[in-house]
Amino acid sequence: MSGESTQHIDPQHIGIIMDGNGRWAKQRGHSRPRGHKEGAKATRRAIDACQELGVRYLTLYAFSAENWNRPDFEVKALMELLELFLARETKTLIKRRIRLHAIGRIEELPASANKALRKAIDATAEFDDWHLVLALNYSSRNEVLDAARSFAKSVAAGEIDPDKTDWDGFAQHLYTAGLPDPDLIIRTSGETRVSNFLLMQSAYAEFYFTETLWPDFDKSHLEKAIASYRNRERRFGKTGEQIATPSQA
Ligand code: FPP
Repeated sequence: MSGESTQHIDPQHIGIIMDGNGRWAKQRGHSRPRGHKEGAKATRRAIDACQELGVRYLTLYAFSAENWNRPDFEVKALMELLELFLARETKTLIKRRIRLHAIGRIEELPASANKALRKAIDATAEFDDWHLVLALNYSSRNEVLDAARSFAKSVAAGEIDPDKTDWDGFAQHLYTAGLPDPDLIIRTSGETRVSNFLLMQSAYAEFYFTETLWPDFDKSHLEKAIASYRNRERRFGKTGEQIATPSQA
């Protein structure tokens, strides 16, 4: 949300680009949807692990705006998996007091997936300690476009003075309004791209790349990523000395 967040020893918000489902399936002679099914199991493990490790916010890149370009059978399988995930996991989210959010052009999802998503979001709306954010039909560039449109409408309505708006004011128009910026972004499967994920929000995030394919990712991998994060010095533009002795900042 803001350009400079508070320094936490452990990440309070982790974003994950869950990659490698297709390769996991191929290595085993399975279909790509089977890889996604195993990926969904890893997703459940990641949600559990975050709560066990005290990570309050988890954002998962579950379906990018570009993923519509995949073969029809794969898109269909991913949407079915999303509905199945919501049907199975909503009870667990409620039990664990985890609030569900969705970011992306949600209204463009198939009607049944959209409905299931809204239902799960409403059912968990009262919780505030733990947050699961699903990025669906998500693209950072679309997010900036949508935010600019929303901002322009507020200016036209006389609600905002554009000359007096700072980043925090503009960020209120992003899908992630009200959520803290990610501290740590993890990408699995050995790829080292950002792929249009949380580009604005990751301005000060640390990145962690692992060769592990997403269906193989478990709590031990998350612990390794957090351990790596702990060894980093986040400066937010300041010097190392200023960070070491905040009184001189
Ligand atoms: C990237 O792997 C993964 C995706 C495009 C989809 C992510 C979906 C899941 C992990 C499962 C479902 C999650 C929820 C929340 C229902 P890839 O297919 O690009 O892998 P590849 O690069 O090896 O081909």
